[in-house]
Amino acid sequence: MIYSRIAGTGRYLPKRIMTNSELEKMVDTSDEWIRTRTGVERRHIAAEDETTSDLALAAAEAAIENAGIDKDEIDLIVIGTTTPDLVFPNIATLVQYRLGIHGCPAFSIEAACTGFIYALATADKFVRTGASKCALVIGAEIITKLVDWTDRSTCVLFGDGAGAVIIKPSEEPGIISCHLGADGQYRDLLYYPYGVSKDLCKAGTGDARLMMSGNEVFKVAVKTLGSVAEEALTANGIDKSQLDWLVPHQANMRIISATAKRLDMPLEKVILTVQEHGNTSAASVPMALDVGIRDGRIKRGQLILMEAFGGGFTWGSILMRY
Ligand code: UT7
Repeated sequence: MIYSRIAGTGRYLPKRIMTNSELEKMVDTSDEWIRTRTGVERRHIAAEDETTSDLALAAAEAAIENAGIDKDEIDLIVIGTTTPDLVFPNIATLVQYRLGIHGCPAFSIEAACTGFIYALATADKFVRTGASKCALVIGAEIITKLVDWTDRSTCVLFGDGAGAVIIKPSEEPGIISCHLGADGQYRDLLYYPYGVSKDLCKAGTGDARLMMSGNEVFKVAVKTLGSVAEEALTANGIDKSQLDWLVPHQANMRIISATAKRLDMPLEKVILTVQEHGNTSAASVPMALDVGIRDGRIKRGQLILMEAFGGGFTWGSILMRY
């Protein structure tokens, strides 16, 4: 049996850091409210002229170096993002070009905050079937360009960044299983109102801003993340006590704590970046993974559960050994 296994990871965060006290000057909020209700203390914000492929490229270069591979070994690029540079060509082709490689399939997947989990689950299928021997998978997002900076209920939550992994075939696990889901009945609880075939010309005007019914999203997120985590464990006959690390989507500290509690995992076994990064949508899980690996907490062979939840709704979990 062939598994796909992480060969290297990388991340990139834009230089500019915005603290909660800066937000206090922009909207009617407080550092105390933001920290206690969300866990966020600061977030990175992309520069005006920075694009999502800039962030994705930097994360990819870090992952390539960390994996110790030659970039020409890459035979597949999959990027999860909701904020690509252009409508087309797809962002993965832009990153491919900027890496100086040619010919391999390169495509993007849009699943909001679950984008990286969807992308990694897809690339995993290529590797398992022998169609890819070295895949570059990225979660990259400049979600703050969709945020209304006068809306305190959303602008305090988000940040920008990119995380990348290189996966290669291995006889040892590796990714054990992926569990994806979606339910469009919740589409009106978290969305951006304009797109290509719907009022594109209105983007940047009036109510062109990320819309979220925070409280309702919160409740479904807690319930769904708990069940998609359990789904992964049940499918593999693994007890929650066997998990070494939870690498969750970093939307809200209270959501993360609820999932950890359901898994009986102390927060010491959870990789937390929400305080430093905020919610970076598709970038949050791969950046948290990279943080945990690079600071030495996540070790080779350990059992890791990654999970995410986002607009759509979409959700997913990936159980793997590092
Ligand atoms: O990544 C995709 C998935 N996204 C998520 O999972 C996000 C899920 N939702 C959440 O994380 C939380 O719902 C929020 C952090 C967005 C909001 O927290 P909450 O505890 O659900 O607050 P709330 O929306 O129920 O609002 C409570 C109060 C309201 O005031 P009143 O009506 O009680 O007087 C809000 O107006 O807090 C007020 N409020 C704020 N106050 C200070 C909302 N935003 C702020 C703010 N500063 N930034």
